[in-house]
Amino acid sequence: MRDFHHHLLLFLYLFLLSLYQVTLTAPKAVHHRCRDDQRSAFAQLQENLKFPESFSNAELWDLKTDCCSWEGVTCNDAGHATQLDLSFASGEDGDSVSLEKPNLGMLFQNLSFLVELHLDYVNISAQGSNWCEVISQVLPNLRVLSLSNSSLSGPLCSSLLKLHFLSELDLSQNPELSSISPSFLVNSSNLETLDLSYCGLNGSFPNNIFRFPKLQSIDLSENLLLSGQLPEFSLNSSIQYLSLKNTNFSGNIPLSISNLKSLNYLDLSRCKFYGVIPPSLANLTQLETLDLSFNSFNGSIPPFQRDGVANLAFLSLEHNQLNGVLNSSLFTLPSLQNLDLSSNQLGGQLDEFSDASSSLLIIELSNNNLSGSIPRSIFNLPSLRELNLLYNKFSGPLKLGDFKNQRDLVFLALSGVSVESDNRSLAYVQLATLYLPNCNLTEFPNFLKNTEQFDWSRSFQQQNSRLCAQLDMENNSHHIIPFPQSC
Ligand SMILES: *[C@@H]1O[C@H](CO)[C@@H](O)[C@H](O)[C@H]1NC(C)=O
Ligand SMILES: *[C@@H]1O[C@H](CO)[C@@H](O)[C@H](O)[C@H]1NC(C)=O
Ligand SMILES: *[C@@H]1O[C@H](CO)[C@@H](O)[C@H](O)[C@H]1NC(C)=O
Ligand SMILES: *[C@@H]1O[C@H](CO)[C@@H](O)[C@H](O)[C@H]1NC(C)=O
Ligand SMILES: *[C@@H]1O[C@H](CO)[C@@H](O)[C@H](O)[C@H]1NC(C)=O
Ligand SMILES: *[C@@H]1O[C@H](CO)[C@@H](O)[C@H](O)[C@H]1NC(C)=O
Ligand SMILES: *[C@@H]1O[C@H](CO)[C@@H](O)[C@H](O)[C@H]1NC(C)=O
Ligand SMILES: *[C@@H]1O[C@H](CO)[C@@H](O)[C@H](O)[C@H]1NC(C)=O
Ligand SMILES: *[C@@H]1O[C@H](CO)[C@@H](O)[C@H](O)[C@H]1NC(C)=O
Ligand SMILES: *[C@@H]1O[C@H](CO)[C@@H](O)[C@H](O)[C@H]1NC(C)=O
Ligand SMILES: *[C@@H]1O[C@H](CO)[C@@H](O)[C@H](O)[C@H]1NC(C)=O
Ligand SMILES: *[C@@H]1O[C@H](CO)[C@@H](O)[C@H](O)[C@H]1NC(C)=O
Repeated sequence: MRDFHHHLLLFLYLFLLSLYQVTLTAPKAVHHRCRDDQRSAFAQLQENLKFPESFSNAELWDLKTDCCSWEGVTCNDAGHATQLDLSFASGEDGDSVSLEKPNLGMLFQNLSFLVELHLDYVNISAQGSNWCEVISQVLPNLRVLSLSNSSLSGPLCSSLLKLHFLSELDLSQNPELSSISPSFLVNSSNLETLDLSYCGLNGSFPNNIFRFPKLQSIDLSENLLLSGQLPEFSLNSSIQYLSLKNTNFSGNIPLSISNLKSLNYLDLSRCKFYGVIPPSLANLTQLETLDLSFNSFNGSIPPFQRDGVANLAFLSLEHNQLNGVLNSSLFTLPSLQNLDLSSNQLGGQLDEFSDASSSLLIIELSNNNLSGSIPRSIFNLPSLRELNLLYNKFSGPLKLGDFKNQRDLVFLALSGVSVESDNRSLAYVQLATLYLPNCNLTEFPNFLKNTEQFDWSRSFQQQNSRLCAQLDMENNSHHIIPFPQSC
C-alpha cells in the first residue's frame, strides 16, 4: 500500500513537471506579419499563373490578408517566406496550373529566404531550360526543390551545385530533361533524397552521387537511355531506397552492397546487370523489397533464410539465368508475400519444409528445371493465393483435393504432372483460374460448377480427349462456356 502511494505521488509529480515543461516550451502563437516585398512577389506570381478550367476559384490568395497565412506559404519569424508549395493548386483530372510568361528570376528575387519550393504539377515549360540556372542563382538557401511533373525542359544544368544546402531534389515525371552533365550535383554532399524517375535522361550517371554519406533515397527508374554502374559502397552509407528499374545500368552488383545496412528497397529490374548476386544480400536485415528481375544474373540464389531477411516481403528474380538448386527455406521466410523465380534455370528437387510461411501469397516458379515430386509442405502455406509451377519437370501424382485447406487460392497452374480431380466437394470457391496443360486430368472437377468467379474462358486448357468429351457434356450447364481450340 505504501508502495502504491509512493508510486502515485511520483506519478503526480512527474505529471505536473511535464505539464510545466509543456507550457514553458510550447511555441508562442507568433503572428508573422507579411512583409511588403514578399507580398508583392506573391502578387506578381499569382498574376502570372494560369489556372485550369476546373479550378473553381482562380484567385489563389486574397491579397488583402496576411501572406504568411496563405495556403502553401510558410514564413519565418521575421516575415520572410521560407516555404512555398503550389502543388495544391493543380486541378482535378490532371489539369495543371501553368506559369505563363514567367521570368522566374524576377518573380523569385524577393523570395531568397525560401528553404522549400514545391511547384509539382505547375507547368513551367514556358521557361525553357532556364529554370535550372535561375532557381540556382536566386534561391541559394533551398533545401527542398520539388518540380515533379512540371513539364521541365533539359538539359539539367550544373548550377544546381550552387545550392549548398540541397537535401531533397525531386524532378521526376519530366520526360524531356535529356542529358545530364558529369558534374551534376558533384558537390551536393548534403543530398538525402533524389528522384529523377521518368525524366528521359540519357548519357552516363555520375556515380559518385551514390556515395554521398547522407543519401537515403535515390530513384532513377524509367530512364531507358541512362547508363551507369553501381559504385563500391562504404559502411557509412545511409541508403535505404534504391531504384534503377528500367534503365541502361549494367555491370555487377558489387560485393560491398552488403555495407548498405539500412537498405530496405532495392529495385534493379529491367536493366543490364549480370554476374552472380552477392550472397551477402541475404544478410541485409532491413530488406523488404528485392527486385532483380529481367537481368542476366547467373549463379545461385543467395542463401535467404529466416534469421537473415526477416522483413523481406517481395522477392523477384524472374527472367535471369540463375541455376543451382532452390532451397525450400525460401518458403519459410516469415514476412515473404510474393516470390517470383520464374524463367530461370533452377534445377533439383524441392525439399519438404517445416515452418511454412503464413504470409506467402504468391509463388511463381514456372519455366525452370525443377524435378521430383511437389513437396506436400506446399499445401501447408495457409494464405496462398497463386501457385504457378508450369513448365518444370515435376512428377505427380497430385490431387486437386490436396489444396482443400487453402481457401484463398485463386490461381493454380500446373503442367506435366498427373492430376486427379477427386470429386470431393472442395470449399475453395475463390478459384478463378485453373490451368492444367498436360496433366492427364480424367474427370471433370465438379466443384468448379459452383464457383462464381471461375473464369472459364482462360482456364482449364487440357490436351486430353477424354476430358474434352466430358466437358462437352457439361456444356449444357449455364456455367460452362464452350471449350477452346485444344479439344
Ligand atoms: C521586390 O521587393 C521590392 C521592394 O518591396 C519591390 O519594389 C519589388 O517590386 C519586388 N519585386 C517583385 C518581383 O515582387
Ligand atoms: C503529369 O500528371 C498528369 C496528371 O496526373 C498525368 O496525367 C501525366 O501523365 C503526368 N505526366 C507525366 C510525364 O508523367
Ligand atoms: C505545358 O504547357 C505547354 C504550353 O505552355 C503545353 O504545350 C504543354 O502541353 C503543357 N504540358 C502539360 C503536361 O500540360
Ligand atoms: C567541388 O568541390 C571541390 C572541393 O571543394 C572543388 O575543388 C570543386 O571545384 C567543386 N566542383 C564544382 C564543379 O563546383
Ligand atoms: C541526349 O539527348 C539529347 C537530346 O535528344 C542529345 O542532344 C544528346 O546528344 C544525347 N546525349 C547522349 C549522351 O546520348
Ligand atoms: C547501354 O549501356 C551499354 C553498356 O554500358 C552501352 O554500350 C550502350 O551504348 C548503352 N545504350 C544506350 C542506349 O545508352
Ligand atoms: C565514409 O567512409 C569512407 C571510407 O570507408 C571515408 O573515406 C569517408 O570519409 C567516410 N565519410 C564519412 C562522412 O564518414
Ligand atoms: C551473414 O552474417 C553471418 C553473421 O555475421 C555470417 O556468419 C555469414 O557468413 C554471412 N553470410 C553471408 C552470405 O554473407
Ligand atoms: C556467369 O556467366 C559468366 C559469363 O557467361 C561466366 O563466365 C560465369 O562462369 C557464370 N557464372 C556462373 C556461376 O554460372
Ligand atoms: C537450405 O538453407 C538452410 C538454411 O539456410 C540450410 O541449413 C540448408 O543446408 C540449405 N539446404 C541446401 C540443400 O542447401
Ligand atoms: C534439367 O535437369 C536435368 C536433370 O533433372 C538435367 O539433366 C538437365 O541438364 C537440366 N537442364 C537444364 C537446362 O539445366
Ligand atoms: C499422360 O498420359 C500419357 C499417355 O498415357 C503418358 O505418356 C504421360 O506420361 C502422362 N503424363 C503425365 C503427366 O502423367
